[in-house]
Amino acid sequence: MRTLTFYNHKGGVSKTTTTFSLAAYLASRCNKKVLLIDADPQSNLTENFFAPPAEDDDSALPGTSIYEALQPRFEGAAARVEVSKIVLPTHKLYKTLSILRGDWNFSLAERYFSNALALAITESVHEKHTYVVLYNLIQDLIGAHGFDHVLVDLGPASGAITNLALLSCDGYFIPVTPDRFCTQAVEALAKLVQRWIERHQKTVATFPPFGITSFPGEPRFLGTVSNAFKAYAGRTKKPYEYWERQILRIIASELLPKVPSHSSTAEYVASIKDFGGLAPVAHIVGKAIFDLDREDTKLTSAGGGAWSGVALESWLARAREYGDEIDKLARIVIDE
Ligand SMILES: Nc1ncnc2c1ncn2[C@@H]1O[C@H](COP(=O)(O)OP(=O)(O)OP(=O)(O)O)[C@@H](O)[C@H]1O
Ligand SMILES: [Mg+2]
Repeated sequence: MRTLTFYNHKGGVSKTTTTFSLAAYLASRCNKKVLLIDADPQSNLTENFFAPPAEDDDSALPGTSIYEALQPRFEGAAARVEVSKIVLPTHKLYKTLSILRGDWNFSLAERYFSNALALAITESVHEKHTYVVLYNLIQDLIGAHGFDHVLVDLGPASGAITNLALLSCDGYFIPVTPDRFCTQAVEALAKLVQRWIERHQKTVATFPPFGITSFPGEPRFLGTVSNAFKAYAGRTKKPYEYWERQILRIIASELLPKVPSHSSTAEYVASIKDFGGLAPVAHIVGKAIFDLDREDTKLTSAGGGAWSGVALESWLARAREYGDEIDKLARIVIDE
């Protein structure tokens, strides 16, 4: 699987954290060349990538942002993005991991992409070019740099950016939290994805007379990832297990029979537990959570000394368990 994303319009279900972790895992443990694309105007992935944050808020981040890359197309100056002008910074620890970074201005893309979604089906050549620009950009970056995998981080939204970004990927995982609201979100998501795929087929059927190459727009569902961190942090697991089952029931009845899928059975392909205090430390040292070690515990202790004994064992075990779950996702991505 070359290009993929974690999609759920429900917020705070660990999309960004899992995206960064999986990308770092593929780069450092599986010897892959990986590109991250931050397609969420919140730019959390970008913050994560360049951690720790610069002391000076005004200091510009390195590299080209996704908005800067696409701007010539949005403004109608170019049919296709010139990828040789795009600068992709490399991660300071993970040398085969690069990023097309995020940008708060990318929220402006919502309007351009929504026009394209509404009007690419008409005779507007401009809107047809905008409709295919993100897919072409990803493919051209792969062609220019030889990335094995591209991971796109999406915001908690179901608007035009998310619609076109999801269709531009080969596959997607659905990260969930076991609760009522997420169950409701998955039900809506199943309908949305089907509608997007159907609408895409109708839109691109109008492209050939204009000589504009379309793209498949049929991303494959790769599996559901349970992020039960709230459950494991709480006292009782039983009510959460109820919602975990409800979510799988909806995936089985509303999604699997209706969209292209990696597997025909509804199951959790990974179950991520609470990694508690590891996240803020990872954000300071700029490592993926599975790579945190004894040295990093110094950042959490009042006296500045490294942890030892049971506390250290439990810290290392949580980092290791997290890595084991990320490994399950990496296997699917590599094998597909
Ligand atoms: N397994 C976990 N255990 C504990 N905390 C977690 C876990 N996964 C994520 N978090 C924390 O939950 C918060 C939300 O995670 P994250 O930003 O990755 O979610 P998101 O789905 O990308 O959110 P958004 O919808 O806003 O983009 C973060 O503070 C993150 O550190
Ligand atoms: Mg996010």
